[in-house]
Amino acid sequence: MKPITIIVAIAQNNAIGCENKLLWHIPADLKRFKSITIGHIIVMGMSTYESLPRKPLIGRTNIVMTRKNIELEGCKVANSVEQAITMFSSDKENFIIGGAQIYEAFLPYANKLLLTIVHRDFAADTFFPKIDFTEWKEVEREDFFDTGDLGFDYSYITYIRKI
Ligand SMILES: NC(=O)c1ccc[n+]([C@@H]2O[C@H](COP(=O)([O-])OP(=O)(O)OC[C@H]3O[C@@H](n4cnc5c(N)ncnc54)[C@H](OP(=O)(O)O)[C@@H]3O)[C@@H](O)[C@H]2O)c1
Repeated sequence: MKPITIIVAIAQNNAIGCENKLLWHIPADLKRFKSITIGHIIVMGMSTYESLPRKPLIGRTNIVMTRKNIELEGCKVANSVEQAITMFSSDKENFIIGGAQIYEAFLPYANKLLLTIVHRDFAADTFFPKIDFTEWKEVEREDFFDTGDLGFDYSYITYIRKI
């Protein structure tokens, strides 16, 4: 099985985005996202691709999911989950980086979840699909407490799929 990891930042109420934007700015989390994904394949939906200020994300193989027959400079395009998986690496982690439609499509295939949990509810129009935590085992957790500038605490939690 190819290694497929979902990486996402989720609010307490499962919110992940609004008006095709992220809901918060956590510089340390963005740095961590870059250091974890650099050198790997990353997979995103067309809306997330459109939301990026600078695209493609450098130093990574960007796969953009769309049902349209288009080409995107500097990116690979996949028209289905099955087609994307054929493009995946067999030995290095392949990262699913959002948004909601793409998380939902790949969740059944993922064997690892890298969650940044934001301990607050956010008003949003886009939500992460419900996770059945009986299928997942927590293997790592780091908690960060608000020092005043963010307005919320957050945690990095890693889950692997139970066999
Ligand atoms: N918090 C986080 O960690 C995080 C991470 C990433 C994104 N986000 C947020 O999530 C929101 C965007 O999510 P979204 O759900 O609206 O959009 P999305 O998942 O980024 O993209 C949806 C698009 O992907 C294509 N698509 C979906 N399923 C497909 C499939 N099975 N095969 C081929 N193509 C497929 C379609 O493109 P076409 O219409 O072109 O066919 C669809 O319109 C934004 O607010 C963004 O900021 C949050």
